[in-house]
Amino acid sequence: MTLREGLLRVRAGEAAHPEAVDALTRLAADHGTPLYVYDAETIREKARALRAAFEPRFPRLGLRYALKANTNVEIVKRVLAEGLAPEVVSEGEVRAALRAGAAGRDVLFTSSSKSPSEIDFALRHDVLLNVDNLDELAQVSAAALRLGTTARISFRINPGVDPDTLHQINTGIPESKFGVHLDGGHARAAYALARALPALAITGVHCHIGSQITETAGYEKTARRMLAFVRELKEELGLTLSFVDLGGGLGIPFADGQAVMTPEDLARALKPIWDEEVELLGYEPELWIEPGRYLVAQAGLMVARVNSVKTTPVKTFVNVDAGFNTLMRPALYGAAHRVRIVGRDGEPMLLDVAGDVCETGDILAEGRLLPRPSAGDLVAFLDAGAYGFVMASEYNARPLPAEVLVDGDAVRVIRKRGTWEELHRSEPEVGPPL
Ligand SMILES: Cc1ncc(COP(=O)(O)O)c(C=O)c1O
Repeated sequence: MTLREGLLRVRAGEAAHPEAVDALTRLAADHGTPLYVYDAETIREKARALRAAFEPRFPRLGLRYALKANTNVEIVKRVLAEGLAPEVVSEGEVRAALRAGAAGRDVLFTSSSKSPSEIDFALRHDVLLNVDNLDELAQVSAAALRLGTTARISFRINPGVDPDTLHQINTGIPESKFGVHLDGGHARAAYALARALPALAITGVHCHIGSQITETAGYEKTARRMLAFVRELKEELGLTLSFVDLGGGLGIPFADGQAVMTPEDLARALKPIWDEEVELLGYEPELWIEPGRYLVAQAGLMVARVNSVKTTPVKTFVNVDAGFNTLMRPALYGAAHRVRIVGRDGEPMLLDVAGDVCETGDILAEGRLLPRPSAGDLVAFLDAGAYGFVMASEYNARPLPAEVLVDGDAVRVIRKRGTWEELHRSEPEVGPPL
């Protein structure tokens, strides 16, 4: 039995199986809790499934990984090793991509709010800047002139498509803060202006309609709109683009048995639209796709330990040693991660798994039917590999959790647990009391 097999059992709902208990008990004993555990093989499987779906249908293809989902350099390295290029949202993420071995030239930098120093940093590393608005465009042009370079740019377009996902992660609707609106001629005007400004090289076009999208319809509509726009750019401005980036957003099942769109479904749905539009366009740009969650979410779980169990006149709470400072998604979006009580398979009862942060909203899982655990038991939160550790904080003066990467039976600490000293790392030396 390998650790991986134990982890797969936890995922499969067999958290009471001796292999599952053994794997998580060993990991928690060796590395403490709360703990993020990632499975390297799952990352590889996901990257390969993505490639297998798209590559045969789209010979001119660029696959990217949205680093925001998980910025740990060991994770990034493993995704990039599968032939994906980085998509980033900040200077810190550009630096993470470089640290993981990417060439600056291969990095795509998308953010709706880039600071002057981020723009300079990106230009110095020949990063492709995905411009969000006209103010930013003028700044990029001026910075490139000042630095004596040419900025390779694309625009993030807001295609005005609602993919029917959570409001907080719905990014391509008209009221969203992201990108240049396609409707009303704004996007075309942006390209016309970019063509007229100095020190810019227009390379492509980008959009990202949201996250955790489980159906193909929104992408189909977006692909049609974006490709019609690419045709408009050719016919009206004489522009030829080298890529069309349709963003990330591929959802994963957050519940046992939930059916969601697969990369295969998406690639199959996009293919006829792409072919038809490319025919009309008269040339074939590269198709770029840039998922984050799909690649890493299911590779990760977060393990916490039960501190106490209490039954009030209203509910039963399982108090664990992790909170929204460890895994923020439930408090931030109402996200429902599957929870497994390790080593218990008794009669399920209605439980709330409560975090250790001193806030009423710190409930990690609400109203779940689970076997009743005891103090000391381990609880696993599934699908925590994306937007998990990266959103963790030291709120309530709790050091950051550790992260470990399992590869077969090998375990590597890819981030040490935070320390008490780190909580004060950037504060001045402590002097005498005031
Ligand atoms: C521009 C952009 N691309 C890609 C992604 C990745 O999204 P997901 O993790 O849902 O695939 C995001 C996420 O917010 C994004 O903003």
